[in-house]
Amino acid sequence: MPHILIVGGAGYIGGITTSLLHEAGYDITVLDNLSTGHRHNLPETVTLVEGNMCNKDIINKLFQRHTFDTVINFAAKILPSESMEDPGGYFYNNVYGTANIIDMAARYHVAGFVFSSTAAVYGNPERIPIQENDSKHPINPYGVSKYMVEQLLQSYENTHELPWCALRYFNAAGAHYNIGPEYPFKTHILPVAIDKLRRRETMQIFGNDYDTPDGTCVRDYVHAYDIALAHLYAVEKLLNGATLNKPVNLGNSTGHSVLEIIHALENVTSQNLSYEYASRRAGDPDKLVASNDLAYKLLGWEPTKNLDQIIEDAWQWTIAKSL
Ligand code: UFG
Repeated sequence: MPHILIVGGAGYIGGITTSLLHEAGYDITVLDNLSTGHRHNLPETVTLVEGNMCNKDIINKLFQRHTFDTVINFAAKILPSESMEDPGGYFYNNVYGTANIIDMAARYHVAGFVFSSTAAVYGNPERIPIQENDSKHPINPYGVSKYMVEQLLQSYENTHELPWCALRYFNAAGAHYNIGPEYPFKTHILPVAIDKLRRRETMQIFGNDYDTPDGTCVRDYVHAYDIALAHLYAVEKLLNGATLNKPVNLGNSTGHSVLEIIHALENVTSQNLSYEYASRRAGDPDKLVASNDLAYKLLGWEPTKNLDQIIEDAWQWTIAKSL
């Protein structure tokens, strides 16, 4: 079976994708510095190399020792709000680190490179649903860092004919294979809301004066397992000789406001969650909703799980893990 290098494969989306590809029979090597990932997210027989993608020696040695057919990079700093405080950390890790891997992947002529990009590349979108060719004006350094890597990939397509695909995730949520958002921080809406509900504490909604129907931010929530499926399809296409060479939106094409998420969680759990309005959080666009037509056309991908399933899986996983 083809050998895949999965960078950041011990993390949340990385771990679910690694498990799915492992189940499909692929030979996998994971590189992860375990800063936010966990060994327990990996199937036992998957090889883990503990190291940082910013360390060129580690990347060079990996490519010298193994023949990789495709490469996937999940490793990244992922918080738009944190990137407003620490742009340098985001550019160093997300851009420099990924550039190291892309460069080696191109030199060794892998069949394809799959990159975890983001809806944050669009900034405040010009229209909803967002199509891939719509304007990109990221409003936080996190989005800029991901857009820069997409441009690097285009550049290596020209210089080295490196086939690539950038998957622009909208708001990943939910759990699968007993893997969920087990981060050293708790900032994402669903983990926060579940935590507050279980502790009987009040959740803060960041801003109720956005240009949206109820004034709270609208996002497109997509199940982590569906995102993993898109990686499987992209890898299969690239190994079959498709070039792809495009960024592709991954979202359910349905927008939900922060208030709607709270009410959906209350419905799924039959419990009430107390909330209050707080000021806006820096770096938050008002609405992000994907058109997923290209994902279907190019990869044959469509979401299989709706918001209630996302919330149910997130809830069950949190209870099971006692987080
Ligand atoms: N929110 C609250 N209260 C909270 C937490 C979040 O009101 O306690 C709001 C945020 O202000 C935002 C929405 O919930 O309006 C979603 O926030 P998240 O922190 O869950 O997610 P983000 O949209 O900020 O970012 C996530 C990922 C990014 C990715 C982006 C794509 O962290 O990596 O989705 O849309 F780029």
